[in-house]
Amino acid sequence: MRVDDLCEAFRGSEFPAQGVDAHPDRASVKTARSAVESAVIDEEFLVDCMRRELRLIEANTPRRGLTPFFIIPDFGIRIAFGYWPPGATPGAHEHTAWTITAVCRNRLEVLTYDREESYKRQELVPRNRFNAGAGRVGYIYEPSIHKPKNISTAWSMSLHVSSPRDGQPLADDDRPFPAFTDDDLPSSGGARLTGRFPAALEDDRDDPQLIATLARRQRGRVRGLTRVLAEIDMPGVPELLARCFVLADPATRDFIARMDRRIPHISEPDSMSTD
Ligand SMILES: [Fe+2]
Repeated sequence: MRVDDLCEAFRGSEFPAQGVDAHPDRASVKTARSAVESAVIDEEFLVDCMRRELRLIEANTPRRGLTPFFIIPDFGIRIAFGYWPPGATPGAHEHTAWTITAVCRNRLEVLTYDREESYKRQELVPRNRFNAGAGRVGYIYEPSIHKPKNISTAWSMSLHVSSPRDGQPLADDDRPFPAFTDDDLPSSGGARLTGRFPAALEDDRDDPQLIATLARRQRGRVRGLTRVLAEIDMPGVPELLARCFVLADPATRDFIARMDRRIPHISEPDSMSTD
């Protein structure tokens, strides 16, 4: 299975065309969730996604939050990877349209909040807490607030298939979002952020601290991809690992060079430079 096959699943569904001011019905989102469920356990699909993601990383476009490596034509549906070092969380945030989230590697803890009560009381009101392991695929249909976190000591990776309308203001947008802070996000300085999922911060492109943070995150993405690719034995993977090598930090380069498989264009470990 490849990304194009997932696109076919959407083409045969009732999702509104791109630009149409409508949401799909719940049954369509559940059907799409099933398609994603089959996809994320398929290594060929994951490799195809990672090939596209690497292209995005190589383009070195500043990004923050979920940046799609592919947008399904005709529907505008976004497909993106999420990377989770140990302890990582984007903080509590709100999805304003449907989204499907799959755990690809390791696991995530997800806290959900009672959206209505949270707005009413102006504080986050917990509702549920669950652990999602690799292969678990959940979906959000109505606007929701949640907080995923990697509470493990290993890296996690997730795949997100989202409505083009996710992040758009809702009719009740005039109410302030229940306050939260997130020191993990650059430029926030611990200040209150909007509740909507953070988008690219084009205005901050000249901020050296942000540039350094974005570069560190790019290397973190490459490290995450490398670890996943290292576990997959398929044609095409060595070539992707060679591309990761070019973008990686020294420790990841060392990891790739010492792998027990032939990676094109990479010398023997003893003769390679890792600076
Ligand atoms: Fe989310």
